[in-house]
Amino acid sequence: MRGTHEHSRFTVIMGGPDKPGHDERAGRLGLASDPFRVKDDEAVNFIRAGRPGEETKTMDDAGQDIRRAARERAYHIPIEEIEVADDELFRTDTHWPYFERLRREDPVHHSVHPEHGPYWSITKYNDILAIDSNHQDFSSERAITIADPADDFQTPMFIAMDPPKHDAQRKTVSPALSPANLQNMEPLIRQRAGDILDSLPIGETFDWVDKVSIELTTMTLATLFDFPFEDRRKLTRWSDVITAPEGAPGFGNEEERRAELFECVGYFTNLWNQRINAEPKGDLISMMAHSEATRHMDQMEFLGNLILLIVGGNDTTRNTMTGSVLALNQNPDQYKKLMENPAILPSMVSETIRWQTPLAHMRRTAMRDVEFGGKSIKEGDKVVMWYVSGNRDEEVIANPNAYIIDRERPRQHVSFGFGIHRCVGNRLAELQLRVIWEEIMKRFPDIRVMAEPTRVASSFIKGYETLPVMIPARN
Ligand code: HEM
Repeated sequence: MRGTHEHSRFTVIMGGPDKPGHDERAGRLGLASDPFRVKDDEAVNFIRAGRPGEETKTMDDAGQDIRRAARERAYHIPIEEIEVADDELFRTDTHWPYFERLRREDPVHHSVHPEHGPYWSITKYNDILAIDSNHQDFSSERAITIADPADDFQTPMFIAMDPPKHDAQRKTVSPALSPANLQNMEPLIRQRAGDILDSLPIGETFDWVDKVSIELTTMTLATLFDFPFEDRRKLTRWSDVITAPEGAPGFGNEEERRAELFECVGYFTNLWNQRINAEPKGDLISMMAHSEATRHMDQMEFLGNLILLIVGGNDTTRNTMTGSVLALNQNPDQYKKLMENPAILPSMVSETIRWQTPLAHMRRTAMRDVEFGGKSIKEGDKVVMWYVSGNRDEEVIANPNAYIIDRERPRQHVSFGFGIHRCVGNRLAELQLRVIWEEIMKRFPDIRVMAEPTRVASSFIKGYETLPVMIPARN
């Protein structure tokens, strides 16, 4: 798979577009060279750190230039040339003006991805709801990202299934994520959040992604699986193996990647074998082992559902946790508001999930010819719902580009999807975000972002590789 393309690993598992080279990128971004290019071990350009009460904001010049160039290009190229499923637009955070223009001028937009072929982009909030709630006409069965899975490495998972199989498998795992179970988990999550925060260095820069976001969400995932706690970073590693772009330092070629995933399914098979011979318990593995809907899965389907739970349960919440620190730093007035009125925290959590939109899109496949938004969608066509755009739809959400932590209807967003596949873990995500901030507010009045984050190069997982922060020492 490696060679002419820098290929996203995620393409092979769940789909996702390829990445072009740096020169091609720069051209498409409207610049002579790519200012976002980061050499190995090189930190990105320094930006500012916002603090509660501060009014001014500075951003690195390269970042401003690239965003300005993107806006100009987005409004000057012929609309048929707009192709939003481009990982680089997400790595450089320059996708916004393209979606803005599509929402205004061509909300059901047809384009052709160089690798994955033709697809429709659905960019408005209400259109997304209409597609997402019509699983009869718009199927999840083929794939849930733009790319189709590799023929020789198919990993069925219930997010990419239609009823009745989807419903039965979802029902198997959903009790682990029910409000009653979450109530039981909350004290443990709180204890861990406190321990993580108490161990952070004060007065020196560290990476929030690694030390906090990954640590807490991985611990929670280990508990959901009843996974040996001392091995929990294996979960992080497998998650990274699934999502890291090909060529990323520290990850091997396609063959080595698959070998690691077989190691993952081997490890979990041991747990499965222990649990199938024991009394049923409340962890996800035991639940799957004892349910008629999942106990007959073959190895690839077991791996598929593990991937779903590992990535679904890990990356999304992790990236929102990082996004919350970034958003509050970029909006010091909101940070101040939160510190002065902690009761708005649940609303801040929902606003951050909207603002971040940790999964930028989900894809469906048309089951028949459908007229939609004045366009003729044909049977077999790929239809991509851009949650990242729906969440910025000015006709539904007031002032959608602003981060406002006390909105009137904070849960009005499509970050969790809609319809039968609506995120089954949404309350667990909200719980972890609420608890970490409750514990932060007990300890630190200020967490400063010290540099621009490095963003994940993916039009599917919208998140961060790193976010350098500092907690100032108090006198
Ligand atoms: C902020 C955090 C999260 C976000 C933004 C998120 C987002 C999503 C989205 C967009 C979908 C697909 C919805 C659709 O197709 O309509 C989904 C499904 C799913 N999510 Fe989440 N998720 C998050 C956290 C979690 C957590 C903590 C878990 C726990 C294990 C989880 C497990 C799942 C599963 C299993 C599905 C498949 C549901 C189905 O197909 O019926 N997610 N999530």
